[in-house]
Amino acid sequence: MTKQTKISFIKPAAPKSGVAVAFAAEGLGLGAMTAEFLKNMTGGLERAAAVAKFTGKKSSTLDLIAPAGLAVDRLIVVGLGKPEELGEQDWLKLGGTVMGALDSAKAADATVLAEIAGEGDLSAEALAAFAMGAKLRAYKFDTYKTKKADDDSGPSSLKLQIAVPDPRPVKKAWAAADGIADGVYLARDLVNEPPNALGPVEFADKAAALKKLGVEIEILGEKEMKKLKMAALLGVSQGATRPPRLVIMRWNGGKKNDAPLAFVGKGVVFDTGGISIKPAAGMEEMKGDMGGAAAVTGLMHALAARKAKANVVGVIGLVENMPDGNAQRPGDIVKAMSGTTIEILNTDAEGRLVLADAMWYTQDRFKPAFMIDLATLTGAVIVALGNHNAGLYSNNDDLADKLKSAAGETGEAVWRMPLSPDYDKLIDTPNADVKNTGGRWAGSITAAQFLQRFANDKPWAHLDIAGTAFGSPKNEINQGWASGYGVRLLDRLVSSFYEK
Ligand code: BES
Ligand code: MN
Ligand code: ZN
Repeated sequence: MTKQTKISFIKPAAPKSGVAVAFAAEGLGLGAMTAEFLKNMTGGLERAAAVAKFTGKKSSTLDLIAPAGLAVDRLIVVGLGKPEELGEQDWLKLGGTVMGALDSAKAADATVLAEIAGEGDLSAEALAAFAMGAKLRAYKFDTYKTKKADDDSGPSSLKLQIAVPDPRPVKKAWAAADGIADGVYLARDLVNEPPNALGPVEFADKAAALKKLGVEIEILGEKEMKKLKMAALLGVSQGATRPPRLVIMRWNGGKKNDAPLAFVGKGVVFDTGGISIKPAAGMEEMKGDMGGAAAVTGLMHALAARKAKANVVGVIGLVENMPDGNAQRPGDIVKAMSGTTIEILNTDAEGRLVLADAMWYTQDRFKPAFMIDLATLTGAVIVALGNHNAGLYSNNDDLADKLKSAAGETGEAVWRMPLSPDYDKLIDTPNADVKNTGGRWAGSITAAQFLQRFANDKPWAHLDIAGTAFGSPKNEINQGWASGYGVRLLDRLVSSFYEK
């Protein structure tokens, strides 16, 4: 059912069928467009633009059906605004906008004439970003639809060719971007999957499929985790029938002795809250409570697909948080792998318990250069930042700055939040070393303070992605529920700062 989209780069040739897409800079006058084959219909184009009041404003489109003088069935002119002002994110969004227009046009075959009047050739980076935006927009999760919707008479595939004078450099840039986009697809699929289909075992199987890209996989079950004394993670899982998994993914693309970069993901395949059960309304969203683990898995896919020159380890803790006769209780005290004792005050604050053991294990075993965890950790971060920024916490300014830089480039935004001993006091308890909730105020911060105790003072950053992993408003590059947030951000962190 999923529409197949095949994107390729070709040398310019007048398209003879399907949909042609051309770019127009703002205020240039459409007659000045260089795309050679459009000259045949210049007059008609100017009149159409005048009638539609199309001036080339960024992301506006002019849609001409059966354009006189051209062999194509349709011509879509896309406004660029001022081309010299276009950055990577603009190109990404423009690609998304074009894919949206092609989708509405039910196109099966389209050619983008990627040139701008009066400008030099577009950079390979700009074109790869454009193509990635198109691919991200084309994503649909319709695995479980057995019938097409009545209004969906579109084709089952789209061949999108992007015509540029010299396709060679952009083909290389696109090969990498295409792999990154596949990583985003994988992360979105994992988050969108219904929870009955994706338990810890099924998730681990999907991660194991990365073997075919050269990722080394290890999967730990309950027995192995018991041996490692991961009582914090196992306590969350103990009310569930489906057994937990810890998956370790390794990509060794760097120098043999370079310390790896580590990414750790919260993978609660479904979060009922446990005995501190959540209200019914909206609980279905908690199928996405493995968004951190999905981002780490998607990232490993991206890095392996583009053969990143770095050593990277991804660790995901996969559990289900269920209430039953054997479930963990408020008041229970567990001893984490680190030796820290934790008093459980609310079984719905389970993500930090999973991460406590996954993080400790990761730093202890791999001695990474840094460790970044991703988690749909708190409702409080959504109150603070909404859907537009992940909460960033770090014990290391350099790492935080690098993340901010990668966020600025990719548009996967982060906003740094504070850590301090004052907040740390909020999770002290007379009964154990730490308690798993800090009360009503500063909920996202006290969760981060909790995690910090399991980073063992190593360079560490935490991304609370509860507001960004799913449920964001539709935009140019995502029309679905899961966003795949984090894959592009962390791939860029690696490529900009750790591959030389
Ligand atoms: N998975 C939730 C956080 C969440 C909420 C993610 C909404 C995405 C959307 C987490 O396990 C949770 O339940 N957190 C509690 C913590 C509280 C009990 C201290 C919360 O945020 O209410
Ligand atoms: Mn919870
Ligand atoms: Zn949760």
